[in-house]
Formats: sequence, structure tokens, C-alpha cells
Amino acid sequence: MTNKSKRSSVRPIDLRNDIAKALSRKLVGQPAAIEAIVPFIEMHRAMLSPEGRPNGIFLLLGPTGTGKTKTVEALAEVLHGSSRKVLRIDCGEFQMEHEVAKLIGAPPGYLGHRETQPILTQQRVNAAGSESCDLSLVLFDEIEKAAPSMTRLLLGLLDKGTLRLGDCSTVNFEKTLIFMTSNLGAAKMSEELRPDFGLGAYTPRPAVEKTPRLENIAFAALRRNFSPEFINRLDKIVTYQPLGADALALILSQHIGDLQAHLDKRLGQRTFQLEVPARTRRFLLEEGASEEYGARELKRTIQRLLIQPLASLIAAGEIPAGACIRADVNQRKGRLIMRNLDLDLDAIAS
Ligand SMILES: Nc1ncnc2c1ncn2[C@@H]1O[C@H](COP(=O)(O)OP(=O)(O)OP(=O)(O)O)[C@@H](O)[C@H]1O
Ligand SMILES: [Mg+2]
Repeated sequence: MTNKSKRSSVRPIDLRNDIAKALSRKLVGQPAAIEAIVPFIEMHRAMLSPEGRPNGIFLLLGPTGTGKTKTVEALAEVLHGSSRKVLRIDCGEFQMEHEVAKLIGAPPGYLGHRETQPILTQQRVNAAGSESCDLSLVLFDEIEKAAPSMTRLLLGLLDKGTLRLGDCSTVNFEKTLIFMTSNLGAAKMSEELRPDFGLGAYTPRPAVEKTPRLENIAFAALRRNFSPEFINRLDKIVTYQPLGADALALILSQHIGDLQAHLDKRLGQRTFQLEVPARTRRFLLEEGASEEYGARELKRTIQRLLIQPLASLIAAGEIPAGACIRADVNQRKGRLIMRNLDLDLDAIAS
């Protein structure tokens, strides 16, 4: 092979773009988060990450339902092929000091040493990686809910990339990305996001105008709750944007696409086509999404208004294989009715 043909057979590697694109298909409307995270993956792949510490340490702040937890799940899907490939510590379960001790297990000789397995083991860290990528994702979700000893435990882990367990063994976190999410300042952010009512006039403020204010709220709350040593160990602090109407509509489309894929997979030959017209989408968004609560309720709303009536019809054998079912709005009753388009628009549920 000549040098020329050798060169032309090499595909240009654009890892940053590939991962960023794959992530932005799953995580909607949060480009700053993607920009913050992707360079750290690139550094790991290039084997240039500094030694003796985790590969990246991120604090994700911002209003509820804007995709902080979803970011880590989406990254796990992109890197490891499954959103569950995350070692997730739900900090709400570690509100008492003795609960935090469960993370590292009791020292030998202490009561319960044999019965309690530590939660942060090397095996669990490694299991959050995959054959295609050895970078494990560790998520401390809603960190402000944990007892203060959690921060002390994290200080050592973030600094050295290792954690000493109760039995004196050491867990290595060097090949990890550590994510912490927090609702710090969320109540104040909700106030900021709530529509202004002045003399009955609603004046929505553009999202760009809100961003610096939300950042200020988040940083002030962060400084009140965490020590400078802790804040200094963070590689990136990302404040999530409130989701606008376009982003919420895109997330709804994702959910509807996932539902169709789920129907196809589960029903196999008996599957059918689900059509959700624009009017129904508007209705679902009005019921399940808001700037104040983001997309948090959207999934539950789809479950209640769309999936449950569909499930009753499927269970009763009322949807023939290959049918085209349209979900229409019954505004008067505040719910959806399913119509079989092959049967001359007969309502099969009301
Ligand atoms: N930016 C987004 N892109 C795609 N889906 C999103 C986004 N934000 C929220 N969602 C949807 O809403 C659900 C809830 O979002 P998520 O759990 O990430 O919120 P959060 O920011 O962690 O909120 P909280 O602070 O209340 O924990 C997700 O499972 C996902 O279905
Ligand atoms: Mg969350």
C-alpha cells in the first residue's frame, strides 16, 4: 500500500464531535453541560488525564427537571450502551452520619463488620465501566441532602482519587468521572422562573436574561453550603438552563418515539402505529411540563394520559395488529381518546 492510499483509508477521528452529537440527541437544550464534559472524555481517551485523581469532577446545579440526572444516564448510554451503567449514590439515603458509614463499611472488630458490605467497592466502580470504555461514571445525586460527613469523605476521594474502606482496602477512582448534582438554590430559582404578574400582565423573560441570575443564585447557595476546599476540587460547575417550549416539545417527541419503540419490541407482530398529532402534543405539554418544574412530570403525564388507556385497549384485544391509532384530545373530559384510523375514525376509548 502506498503512503497516499494508507492515508486516505484512515477515517478522521472526531471524537469530541461524535460524543457531543450523540449526547445532544439525548440531552436536550443543555449545550453548556455537553461542552463541559466532553473534553474530559477526550483527555481520557488520549491517555492524557492527570494521574492520582478522578478524570473529571463535575457539579451540576440548576432548576428541577432540567436534565441534571439525565445527563449522566445519557452519557452512560453513549459510552457504555446502557443508561444503567452508572454507580449511583442517592444522597437522600445518607442523611444520617451512620448511614454515610455504610458507603465504606465498618472496620474489622466493629459491630456489623461481617454483615455490612461497603457500597463503594472497586467491583462496583469497575462494573460502571464497559468493554468499549473503561471510564466509569459515578453519580452522587442530590448531594446537599447527605450528612456533612459525606463531604468529608468526598474531599479525600476527589483529591487523591482513592478511598480507604473500613477493612483498610483501597478503592481506586482514577478512571472515573465523578458527577454531583444539587438542588441548592432551587427554591429561589423557582421564584425567579415563576411568571411575573404585574397589573395582570404576564411578561415572560427570555431564557438568556435569566441565565446569569440563576448562576448567581446557584453560586451563592453553593458558597453557603460547601467549604472553599470542596469547591476548589471541582473541575467544572454547570448551571442548567430552564427548558424552553422548543426543548420541552423535543423531549416529548423523544418520549413518544421511545413509546413506539417499546410497543414494537414488546408486542412484536401484534404491534400498531401510534399517531400523536400536534394538538395532542400541546395538550400533553400543558399537562406535564412547565418552566418551573421542567420535564420532570412529562413522563408521568404520558403514562397517565396515553399509556394507561392504550394498555387497557391492548389488554382487551381492541387494537388489531398493524392498526393506526390516533390519540385525540377530549378537551371536555381533560383526557385522550384513541381512534382507530382504519375503522373510519371510530373512537375506541373515551
Ligand atoms: N434536558 C433534558 N433532555 C432530555 N430529557 C430531559 C431533560 N430534562 C429533563 N428530561 C426528562 O425529565 C426527566 C427528569 O429529569 P432529571 O431527572 O434529569 O431532572 P433533574 O435536573 O435531575 O431534576 P431534580 O433536580 O429534580 O433531580 C428525565 O428522566 C427526562 O426524561
Ligand atoms: Mg436529579
